[in-house]
Amino acid sequence: MARITVPEIIAAKAKHKRLVSVTAYDAPMARLAEQAGVDILLVGDSVGMTVLGMTSTLEVTMDAMIHHTRAVVRGSERAHVVLDMPFMSYQTGDDDAMRNAGRALKEAGATSIKVEGGAKLAPLVARLIEAGIPVMGHIGLKPQSVNLLGGYPAQGVDAASADAVIEDAERLVEAGVYAMVLERVPIEVTKYITEHVPVPTIGIGSGPHCDGQVLVLHDMLGMDDRFHPKHSKQYASLSGTIRDAIATFAGDVREGRFPTEQHSVSASEALVAHLKKRG
Ligand code: KIV
Repeated sequence: MARITVPEIIAAKAKHKRLVSVTAYDAPMARLAEQAGVDILLVGDSVGMTVLGMTSTLEVTMDAMIHHTRAVVRGSERAHVVLDMPFMSYQTGDDDAMRNAGRALKEAGATSIKVEGGAKLAPLVARLIEAGIPVMGHIGLKPQSVNLLGGYPAQGVDAASADAVIEDAERLVEAGVYAMVLERVPIEVTKYITEHVPVPTIGIGSGPHCDGQVLVLHDMLGMDDRFHPKHSKQYASLSGTIRDAIATFAGDVREGRFPTEQHSVSASEALVAHLKKRG
């Protein structure tokens, strides 16, 4: 089965078909998300925080992204798979960026890559696209700049910074991105960008006017009961469900309720006789 292509994603905008994306980091979740009808599986560097226990995305390596992307590719058939280029895999120079982006497609099997950055990154984005590597942009809040920003503040909240985000979007379009993530940008700025760019905008914490939406899977599934970001809607509370299931197992083991014969292998009559003979 062919995966959703870059031209199909671009065409979705003209057809007013909203794109649905979630992050995925492993094969079972990729399979479930695809069965649920997700168009784009984003192997986000958020894997560092959601799965690997890191405090930011900065420690995530290219090797880790390839490892997780391969799992997502194995677990899906139809969805477009985006490898999110991790911190310092593309900021250290065009040659590093080209080599690592090549690995995303050749080794990991991703359909495209995502990079965080706008106007300043546009020449690199153009070079990657020239080499045949489709690029999704990511503007507004760029989590890899957490140390510069002192956290994860909304972007484009005053006239100068809104102009800068709009400029980022325009330069990325000129460079040839096929879509762009807008993270934590005010609703009205997002609406303006979405109406002025020819490629789909995919929002996270940026309101309803984008051409598509992306959520971090672990946030929307309620996998961490200590963390409820404002931009995310919690569609399930799996942390409680999972903890209860494991606690029930622990109780069953301690009280001798598990395993029963139903979950075990029984010896044949001949083997039972043999064991008796051994004394
Ligand atoms: O890493 C990630 O999950 C992302 C999304 C927040 C868009 O980049």
